[in-house]
Amino acid sequence: MRLSCTINGEPREVDGLWEGESLLYVLRERLSLPGSKNACEQGECGSCSVYLDGSLVCSCLVAAGQAEGRDVVTVEGLAPEEDLHPIQNAFLEAGAVQCGFCTPGLIVATHDLLARNPSPSDAEIREALAGNLCRCTGYEKILDAVRLAAS
Ligand code: FES
Ligand code: FES
Repeated sequence: MRLSCTINGEPREVDGLWEGESLLYVLRERLSLPGSKNACEQGECGSCSVYLDGSLVCSCLVAAGQAEGRDVVTVEGLAPEEDLHPIQNAFLEAGAVQCGFCTPGLIVATHDLLARNPSPSDAEIREALAGNLCRCTGYEKILDAVRLAAS
């Protein structure tokens, strides 16, 4: 099976996909884009969050074939190469990155939140990030990072 889609603004083609392959697998294993993390592969943790045609999705739950002809943006596509997005800087500055496994998904989810709502309340931040699990930080630093990014 062949997949043709746009990834981080560039047209990409991938050959030899098997039918059940996930978009996450294609990104990580076939296109060398390891930013999206594979932590549960069941849609439970948000570590694999990407945009698909502008909507936030768990790429582990998207069959690669569903991305045919569509526009995918991963955490690598949020800022120009060699640069950090202000949200990434805010996570670093707030100390919201420990092992970092959840961080790419949180960055993409925060990007989505702030695009929709530039000044979210704490309740709105918690709701928007409810699908993103972190095993390290206790979430307070993550909330600080989102507040900082919003400011
Ligand atoms: S790896 Fe996709 S939601 Fe956990
Ligand atoms: S920083 Fe380790 S899982 Fe979130």
